[in-house]
Amino acid sequence: MTSEHFQVLLLLFCVLHSSAQTCPSKCLCMSDTVRCSSVGLHKLPQSLPSFPTPRLEKLWVAHNEIRTLSHNLFRNVSGLRLLDLSSNRLQMVEQHYFHGLWRLEDGLSSLKKVYFSFNQITHFPFFSIQDHTHPFLAMLDLSSNRMSSLPWEDVKALPQLVQQGLYTHNNSLICDCSMYAIFWHWNLSEYNSIKDFMDEHTCNVNGDPRRSIRFFRDKRFFRNCTVEKFIMQPVTVLLSDVVVFEGNRVRFDKHNVFEYFKFYILALVTFFTASFHLLFFLCVVPDINLY
Ligand SMILES: *[C@@H]1O[C@H](CO)[C@@H](O)[C@H](O)[C@H]1NC(C)=O
Ligand SMILES: *[C@@H]1O[C@H](CO)[C@@H](O)[C@H](O)[C@H]1NC(C)=O
Ligand SMILES: *[C@@H]1O[C@H](CO)[C@@H](O)[C@H](O)[C@H]1NC(C)=O
Ligand SMILES: *[C@@H]1O[C@H](CO)[C@@H](O)[C@H](O)[C@H]1NC(C)=O
Repeated sequence: MTSEHFQVLLLLFCVLHSSAQTCPSKCLCMSDTVRCSSVGLHKLPQSLPSFPTPRLEKLWVAHNEIRTLSHNLFRNVSGLRLLDLSSNRLQMVEQHYFHGLWRLEDGLSSLKKVYFSFNQITHFPFFSIQDHTHPFLAMLDLSSNRMSSLPWEDVKALPQLVQQGLYTHNNSLICDCSMYAIFWHWNLSEYNSIKDFMDEHTCNVNGDPRRSIRFFRDKRFFRNCTVEKFIMQPVTVLLSDVVVFEGNRVRFDKHNVFEYFKFYILALVTFFTASFHLLFFLCVVPDINLY
């Protein structure tokens, strides 16, 4: 990069940076990104810059001291795709954080990745995330927080894509059977959240932090739990008589199809042979007395 280039960049940066209307103080605003990581922020401004084009897509605010977000913060940034609020002091994630992120025209959020790890979050409004409002959300990191229980019914109702990218390890969850059923299912589906953090999935027996067990190592505690029926819905596969349960592996290949046709042809041959024998019996050998 020549020094002229650098000067032009620096000038651009200063124009963007010094313009109080468009960029919050202490933050860097570049193109579709606002970056305010590790700058000792105690709160974010009332509203975020709404760039004409391209719109704000990435907001990095990790490693600060933020405790709460204002009601209107996300009102004009409905095109946001990435939100990193990890390592702050958030205690609650309010429902309005997500409502504000809906794109106004069509009511859809563009959010893809959200990081809330390493806060002090005790509650999260899972019910406010639904397929028809957040169709692209594929990463929701809530690990290393202070949630003692999750509303498992709401978690179970989350869109598949969200469940696949939901990180909840290293909280202070109370061991129970609803948790067991969900983690069991996620493990069977081989989600990365489980595979990559198997040993960080801990829970407290009777809620006692001194009796913390590793969910995937200490299975004894869960031996009385039954896996709920919702993950055992049979799927009928028409090509054969096999009944397959969700989570089971099924392999379809030429062999299966061949086997099926082999069976079919065998059945046909058997049928015709039987018919022929019957005809033979009735017509060709008429003098046998059937009575
Ligand atoms: C959103 O943008 C509109 C117009 O662009 C502006 O009038 C309004 O104050 C903005 N609201 C917030 C909360 O930034
Ligand atoms: C687990 O979370 C606590 C805070 O809740 C944090 O101090 C600790 O470093 C985390 N552990 C891991 C392995 O991430
Ligand atoms: C997790 O899934 C693996 C197979 O993918 C299985 O061997 C293991 O027993 C499962 N663990 C639990 C706790 O269900
Ligand atoms: C499981 O059930 C048995 C028999 O009902 C009981 O003795 C045992 O304490 C139960 N274990 C747990 C971990 O709840």
